[in-house]
Amino acid sequence: MTAQPELRPLGQALGTEVSGIDLAALDDAGFAWVQRAFAAHPVLVFRDQHLAAADLAAFGARFGKPRPHSLINYRYPGCPEVSYLRNVDDAGKIDWFGVKRATAWHTDSTYESELPLLAILHALEVPRERGGTVFADMCAAYAALPPVMKDRLAGLTCFHGHTSGPAGGDLYRNNEAAKTADKHYDDKPWPAITTHPVTGKPILFVNPMHVHGIAGMAKDDAWELIEELARHATQEQFTYYHHWRVGDAVMWDERATMHRGAGDYEPAERRVMLRTIVYPTEGVT
Ligand code: OGA
Ligand code: MN
Repeated sequence: MTAQPELRPLGQALGTEVSGIDLAALDDAGFAWVQRAFAAHPVLVFRDQHLAAADLAAFGARFGKPRPHSLINYRYPGCPEVSYLRNVDDAGKIDWFGVKRATAWHTDSTYESELPLLAILHALEVPRERGGTVFADMCAAYAALPPVMKDRLAGLTCFHGHTSGPAGGDLYRNNEAAKTADKHYDDKPWPAITTHPVTGKPILFVNPMHVHGIAGMAKDDAWELIEELARHATQEQFTYYHHWRVGDAVMWDERATMHRGAGDYEPAERRVMLRTIVYPTEGVT
């Protein structure tokens, strides 16, 4: 590490730009600095990065275990820990699933038995306008809940499924590409309120894509509550809209945030990113 890297807030609640870091050539001191910054800022934005798929996987592997994406047809050839997030297929034609995918609010893979630590996107091609990714701070959202809602949520257990929550059904119903997942998922119960393993702060761990039920609650009541919580958490003061530039690498804390593709760009314009998702190594937070 040469010059001291710096942080600059981009959003009101979250979204922090890092300057002075080259992720493809990060020494141990640089990594320790990034790790400390990430503990305090759940969405970090690194500009002007040049990462091959293997570099992205290697950076992710410093935090934990990068995992191959469940949608096998989006895996990066020769580097399965990295996947493509893109709106074009190999032949350059529009991939409509790629356009629509992940445009409803969610936290990644909460239907699995192990929860991810973080994910990273690296922008290779971006639309001329918009086409951002929006993030919500679920720690700030929890803190702002009225005490009566905090009491109501304490002790509640949510059921997480693949795309079976109120916001998931509309997005993925009858979509062939969504059926190429290499696994079958059962319901996964997680508490509605979790505690961040690093900061110790409570987190609203309910997302409208995957949460489709709440233990002991009728479906209609559960869906109403899930949607009410999503509306609360995605208010402007808890969110950050990331406008992508080519070369951006954005990493987010999967334990403390929700996100969605804004889906607000011209689909004929190419949007191509590399992505990796990282799981905790035993005993490491
Ligand atoms: C993701 C994701 C949304 C987008 O990579 O997990 O949800 O299109 N991305 O920016
Ligand atoms: Mn996602």
